[in-house]
Amino acid sequence: MQATSPFPFGNLSTELVLLIFAHAARPTFVKTGDDVPKNPYASALSLCRVSKVVRRTVLPELLRTILLPEYNNVTAFVRALRMQQVFALQENDLRFDYAGRIDRIWFGQICEPPPQAPVHSSFASSTASERDIDFSLLAPVVLSAPSLALDFESLWLLYGCLESAWSSHVNTNDPIRVPPPWRINNLTLVGEFNRWRPLTSTAEGSAFLASISRLSFLSPARAQTHLLPTYDPCFDDLEHRKYPLPEWMTSVPWESFKHLQTISLVLPRIVLTVAAKTCLSEENVDVELLTLFDPPRSAYWEPKDISAYIESGEGRVVSVGVRTKLGYSPIQFTVSFDWEEAWTCGLLK
Ligand SMILES: *[C@@H]1O[C@H](CO)[C@@H](O)[C@H](O)[C@H]1NC(C)=O
Ligand SMILES: *[C@@H]1O[C@H](CO)[C@@H](O)[C@H](O)[C@H]1NC(C)=O
Repeated sequence: MQATSPFPFGNLSTELVLLIFAHAARPTFVKTGDDVPKNPYASALSLCRVSKVVRRTVLPELLRTILLPEYNNVTAFVRALRMQQVFALQENDLRFDYAGRIDRIWFGQICEPPPQAPVHSSFASSTASERDIDFSLLAPVVLSAPSLALDFESLWLLYGCLESAWSSHVNTNDPIRVPPPWRINNLTLVGEFNRWRPLTSTAEGSAFLASISRLSFLSPARAQTHLLPTYDPCFDDLEHRKYPLPEWMTSVPWESFKHLQTISLVLPRIVLTVAAKTCLSEENVDVELLTLFDPPRSAYWEPKDISAYIESGEGRVVSVGVRTKLGYSPIQFTVSFDWEEAWTCGLLK
């Protein structure tokens, strides 16, 4: 038998080797269903330790999609930006400008930390969020990404970035003629969509909403399960889709979205029983994604049945398999959709 000789990696051209590294560094966002979630950036991070050249090759792959599911992921990201600021000042070889490298950013459900009680030290005037999350560092990077997804609970992070970027924009430019300090045009909102005022009530928030061309809604975050098989009476005519658009759509400030081209929203209709518990844990559930090509323009629009949008060609429905996650609480278990995975894998287009 012939012994297999080791693959002559060293004989490949440098260009090819770097391409292989870049490919190997691509994050995998599909979850494996293991109990211990794997860091999607693990391969890229290990490759960054190989050498400076390899690090420079793989960083763009790592940065393409930034996933910040929890508060500590955001603070870790801000720490990395702070390190980059120091590297840039020192002209260190490890410096790498993140802004403009990112295509998409996802913020999970991240609640604003309460302001800290003043303490007897030099930190007396700063709050936890001011120290951990420096918007002057975060804003240029977050706002340079063309596509942003965030939970409604995390909107404070967006306001913080907009406010930080807007103040220097207004001070140094003619805000009417100079383009706004962000490149985001695809906005995805997750959760319960109810608090628009913080955005609509400020100049920067209004300018931001006005610039969005594609808006997506992923809701609800959670489906309740019932002891008996049940269905939502709104959705009892599934085949003909003679059911209305969700109620919350009437509270969206449509008049603020001046450049909207399409909107999409998921039409959740989940029928679950407790017996479904075990088989659902690893399963994909089909959800319908409705895209409207002629979004509402003002507060006075008349919602129609979904079938009417489809028949007239103003809308399209596609079915998407989304993984469900189970959560347990003492009184019931809940099922939520893994929107993060579906979004990062590009299923929700
Ligand atoms: C978020 O932070 C947690 C805990 O620090 C870590 O285990 C996880 O890998 C991080 N996720 C990402 C996507 O970086
Ligand atoms: C923005 O949305 C459009 C339409 O779905 C898509 O073609 C495009 O790739 C998205 N851009 C980004 C950066 O995700």
